[in-house]
Amino acid sequence: MGQSRTHESRKTPEVAPPTTLFLFGAHGDLVKRLLMPALYNLTRDGLMDEGLHIVGVDHNAISDADFAKKLEDFIRQEAASKAGEGAAEALDPKIWAGLAKRISYIQGDFLDDSTYSDIAARIKTTGTDNAVFYLATASRFFSEVTTRLGGSGLLEESDEHFRRVVIEKPFGSDLASAQALNACLLKVMNEKQIYRIDHYLGKETVQNILVSRFSNGLFESFWNNHYIDHVQITAAETVGVETRGSFYETTGALRDMVPNHLFQLLAMVAMEPPAAFGADAVRGEKAKVVGAIRPWSEKEALANSVRGQYAANDQGDQALPAYRDEDKVNAQSTTETFAAIKVMVDNWRWVGVPFYLRTGKRMSVRDTEIAICFKHAPYAQFRDTDVERLKPNYLRIQIQPNEGMSFDLQAKRPGPTLQLQNIELGFAYKDFFEMQPSTGYETLIYDCMSGDQTLFQRADNIENGWRAVQPFLDAWAAHPQVEFYKAGEDGPKAADELLARDGREWHRIG
Ligand code: BG6
Repeated sequence: MGQSRTHESRKTPEVAPPTTLFLFGAHGDLVKRLLMPALYNLTRDGLMDEGLHIVGVDHNAISDADFAKKLEDFIRQEAASKAGEGAAEALDPKIWAGLAKRISYIQGDFLDDSTYSDIAARIKTTGTDNAVFYLATASRFFSEVTTRLGGSGLLEESDEHFRRVVIEKPFGSDLASAQALNACLLKVMNEKQIYRIDHYLGKETVQNILVSRFSNGLFESFWNNHYIDHVQITAAETVGVETRGSFYETTGALRDMVPNHLFQLLAMVAMEPPAAFGADAVRGEKAKVVGAIRPWSEKEALANSVRGQYAANDQGDQALPAYRDEDKVNAQSTTETFAAIKVMVDNWRWVGVPFYLRTGKRMSVRDTEIAICFKHAPYAQFRDTDVERLKPNYLRIQIQPNEGMSFDLQAKRPGPTLQLQNIELGFAYKDFFEMQPSTGYETLIYDCMSGDQTLFQRADNIENGWRAVQPFLDAWAAHPQVEFYKAGEDGPKAADELLARDGREWHRIG
């Protein structure tokens, strides 16, 4: 689990084994924006072996040299676009030159058997039999490509070499399709060869939830339903659907964010301590806790959820379009761009503690956070004072931006009368750690090449996530109404009512 980076007692990470990395979908966005910059960063940090070979696979014709040049341009552009955030670092010509000579390209159709013979031939030239096949393609190719990889014998391993496949969400679009995809993958390889990426697990702050919980004795003493009233998980974005209208129309906010990213956060907060920080133990505990989410009936799912869609709004001199006016979106669309749900985790630790999850596009600020709300202190002792009510304490885990953690406490405001004021005890990552520019994919690529599956999703993790959201999908398919919210605001009123009904309110975003 990028353990090397999260556990002080770990030694300096070792160089990953020599590997030929095949990038299917080599001309796509994922390769240019994230994978290549990450591979460059890993090389810069001395974590990649000299025997790393990168082979782009896609249908366009391009020479090896032009492909390498194109990747170089992408990395430069990406660094330049982030310059304002202080994340850019000039490409070191020497490091790049070393990597560029190990980049090549195969032109081929993913559905054509000859592409796979070309791949087999290329492996023979790279000096290593270890290969990782990274499917940076549309999800419709996952089964097709893996079936062909298996059929051509490319997934056969020995004691001396490994063959691994990396895929990234969406892993299906509901429980049945996720089960079918897993069955198809497991026909041609075993679970140990499959690396299912959820990019949230590449985020340092997400990995830190686990490490903070289990390396500080303090937390465990109050981490349960005796002291915690409820948990809120928010992933708010300011962007709209941008150029992804046609994808989003059939996906919506729930499928896009909840069974994957938000459930990862829920699992990190709610799981039992693993017996060790190893892949089997961590993934086993995560699967258990997501598997303990109560399956709502259709009626309960409707009552415990809110679907929203952004409507047009003018913000100062900026006119924000309605979702229905976005490119490649149906003018009558009922796809949700905001989802809020309440789930209950029916195990000994959490019984009775609601988990409220919300996510949306075009909200007021970008903010991904977990707010853990503690039970109220008894008010009785303040009855004869000026204090009208006691606010609950929150522990906030700020995933992004402004990564860190804080505790909201109440303190006495100086003065002759008894008045309370909220204060914040906080820790910000930037105050303690010098973070190297990174894309979040560095750890994931490194771990995959090193054979550490802790940060990757096992088949049961994926299926349990879909099982828990399936009641919402079914209920919403039968009742596809959406509540509108103005672009730039924090979701529809109904989302506030979801909590108000339980005598609670959302922690403010931002
Ligand atoms: C992706 C979703 O998985 O995660 C996007 O498809 C979303 O719609 C993105 O914008 C959010 O990721 P992050 O890292 O910006 O929180």
